[in-house]
This record gives sequence, structure tokens and C-alpha cells, in this order.
Amino acid sequence: MTDLSNDIDRILVDEKSIDKTVREIAGMIDRDYSAMDGKLVLLGILKGSVVFMGELMKRLTVPVEIDFMKVSSYAGGTKTSGRVNIILDIQRADLSDSNILIVEDIVDSGRTLSYLTEYLKLKGAKSVKTCTLLDKPDRREVDFEPDYVGIKIPDEFVIGYGLDYDEKYRALPFVGILKRSVYEK
Ligand code: IMP
Ligand code: MG
Repeated sequence: MTDLSNDIDRILVDEKSIDKTVREIAGMIDRDYSAMDGKLVLLGILKGSVVFMGELMKRLTVPVEIDFMKVSSYAGGTKTSGRVNIILDIQRADLSDSNILIVEDIVDSGRTLSYLTEYLKLKGAKSVKTCTLLDKPDRREVDFEPDYVGIKIPDEFVIGYGLDYDEKYRALPFVGILKRSVYEK
């Protein structure tokens, strides 16, 4: 097997910093949702959010249910297509008692989360908020701010901790900047 570390330019967020960030976000969610009416549903966006979602839910003390959706906005590689397609919908018919907190790995153009927020409100969710581990605010193409943001990062293509390039690097325990030579051929 090839050694993936050769493809990393540098580590942007190490394991310790990620862990601290996840605990801080969990604390804010606990505080904001503990007295709320209805249930809290963490809605992970596949596949990038799975590592963050797993760590985040362990740190929460408020009771949660979980669900997943899968969408595509990336045209493949490192470029976004600008359109959001639902590939797997939320597996719940009645959302009227559900406070949905969408859990994302990273916000880039903002299209995925702004689209999903509207979509879930139209489906009748009691409330819809968004949570992302990483945010690239310089890349925004639509007017959208996530409710909970872990770490703001510069406009670099990153991988690890769930994030991929071409389905690779998701299992790395840190967030790293991918060498440009890997995708600029
Ligand atoms: P948005 O709709 O443009 O905000 O795109 C968000 C999605 O693009 C994320 O869920 C990721 O799947 C993907 N994405 C954006 N930036 C990166 C990156 O730097 N590395 C890996 N995936 C990314
Ligand atoms: Mg994603």
C-alpha cells in the first residue's frame, strides 16, 4: 500500500486541536438545546461528516437521535458543481417534533447547507440549525453562516478527519493540506 503521508503538504489542524474544538462545540450545543422542546436530531451529511459526527455525539450530554443524508455538490475532484442533488434523503416522515442540527465536515461555497436548511424547513422540521467542523469563509458564493463553526481555515483543499480527495485520506486523524501536485496534473 502507498504511504498517504507523502501526499500531504502540511498538517493544518492536529488531533489535539480537533479534540478541543469538538468539546467546545459540544458544550455550546448542550447549553443551547438542553431546555428546548422537542427532540434533537443530529443529521450527518455523508460521507465527510462521519468522523466529526461520531466524536461530537460522544461529547454531548443532551439526548440525541441521529440520521443521515447524502448529497452531491462536488463535480468530482476539487471543484464544486454549484448544484445540490439529494442522493439519500432523511429517513423520517414527520419532522414536526425534530430540532434538526445538520452536521457537516466543511463549508465552502455554502450551497449545500443553505439548500439543506431550506429543504428541511419545507419538510416541516421544528427547527433547523447547522454545525461544521471547518469553514472556508473566503470561498462563499451564497449568503450563509453556519450556527456552530469549529475552525475557520484559509482557501486550501484539505483532507483527513472524514474529508476526502477522490475517496482517499478520510481515515487520517488530522486535517491536512493536500499537495497541489496530487490534483493538478
Ligand atoms: P459547499 O456546498 O460548496 O459549501 O460544499 C461543501 C462540501 O464540499 C463539503 O461537504 C465537502 O464534501 C466538499 N468540500 C469543500 N471543500 C473541501 C475540501 O477542502 N476538502 C474536501 N472536501 C471539500
Ligand atoms: Mg461533504
